[in-house]
Amino acid sequence: MVARWLLPLVLLLGLAGVLQVHGQVDKLASFITIDCGLPENSPGYMDNITKLRATGDAGFTNAGTNHNISTEYITPTMGWTWHTVRSFPIGVRNCYTIRPVGSAGPNYLIRAFFMYGNYDGLDRLPIFDIYLGVNYWKTVNITGADIPLIVEVIAYVYGGIVQVCLVNTGSGTPFITSLGLRPLKTTLYPQVNATQGLVLITRSSFGTNKTVRYPDDAYDRVWLPWTKPHSDQSFK
Ligand SMILES: *[C@@H]1O[C@H](CO)[C@@H](O)[C@H](O)[C@H]1NC(C)=O
Ligand SMILES: *[C@@H]1O[C@H](CO)[C@@H](O)[C@H](O)[C@H]1NC(C)=O
Ligand SMILES: *[C@@H]1O[C@H](CO)[C@@H](O)[C@H](O)[C@H]1NC(C)=O
Ligand SMILES: *[C@@H]1O[C@H](CO)[C@@H](O)[C@H](O)[C@H]1NC(C)=O
Ligand SMILES: *[C@@H]1O[C@H](CO)[C@@H](O)[C@H](O)[C@H]1NC(C)=O
Repeated sequence: MVARWLLPLVLLLGLAGVLQVHGQVDKLASFITIDCGLPENSPGYMDNITKLRATGDAGFTNAGTNHNISTEYITPTMGWTWHTVRSFPIGVRNCYTIRPVGSAGPNYLIRAFFMYGNYDGLDRLPIFDIYLGVNYWKTVNITGADIPLIVEVIAYVYGGIVQVCLVNTGSGTPFITSLGLRPLKTTLYPQVNATQGLVLITRSSFGTNKTVRYPDDAYDRVWLPWTKPHSDQSFK
C-alpha cells in the first residue's frame, strides 16, 4: 500500500473551465470542515466566504491544546478558521480520526491548512511531517508566521475512516489550523485507487485575481490566482 502511493499532481485551469462544474452540487451534506482549536463547546459556524459549515475539532482528536493566533496576525478579511489552532506539544505522533458519513466516496479530497500566527508567542517556525494513516504525505515547512499553507491529497478512503497524523520530527511543535474532507466522483481522478493517491503541488486559476473555491468549484477545490511569478519551482 505504501510504495506507489504518492504521485505529484499539478493542475491548471482557466476560469471558464471552473464555472462549467457549477450545477453539480449534490453531496454538500458530506462536506466536512473542521476548525481546529475551537473551544470544546463551540457550536461551530457558517464560513462567510464559502457559506459552508465548520465544526470544532474536539470530537476528532483527544490530544493537543487549543490556541488563538496572535492578534497582530488577524486581518479584517481573514476567515474565522484562521483564528485558532490546535498544537501537539506532547507525543511524537498525534492523529485526527474522521469518519465520513453517507454513501459518498470512496475517493476524497483531504486537506489541511496551516498558519502559525505566533500562537505560542515564541516566534519559532516549526517543521513537521503529516501522514495519511501510515503513509507519509508531506513535510509541513512553515516559512513565515503569516504564510498560510495548504496540504492536500486525493485518496481512496478505506473502510470509511480517515486518519490524519502530525509527526514531530524534532524541529518544533506540530500544530494545525483546519482540516477538510470533500467526496469526489471516482471518475474525476481515475489515477486514484486503493494503492495510490495524488498529492497536490499547486492548483492555479487564470483570468481572475481571486481565489476560486466553493460554490464556483462544486467540489470546493481551492484554485489560487496565477497573478505573479510563482515562487513554486516545480514548474521549471
Ligand atoms: C460573518 O460576517 C458578519 C458580518 O460582517 C460578522 O459579524 C460575522 O462575525 C462573520 N462570521 C464569521 C464566522 O466570519
Ligand atoms: C481565544 O480568544 C477567545 C475570544 O477572545 C477567548 O474567549 C478564548 O478563551 C481564547 N482561547 C484561548 C485558548 O486562549
Ligand atoms: C524549509 O524551508 C526553508 C525555506 O524555504 C528551506 O531553506 C528549508 O530547506 C526547508 N526545510 C525542509 C526540511 O524542507
Ligand atoms: C492503481 O493504479 C496503478 C496505476 O495504474 C496500478 O498499477 C495499481 O495496480 C492500481 N491498484 C489497484 C488496487 O487497482
Ligand atoms: C489583477 O491584478 C493586477 C494588479 O493588481 C491588475 O493589473 C490586473 O488587471 C488584475 N487582473 C484581473 C483579471 O482582474
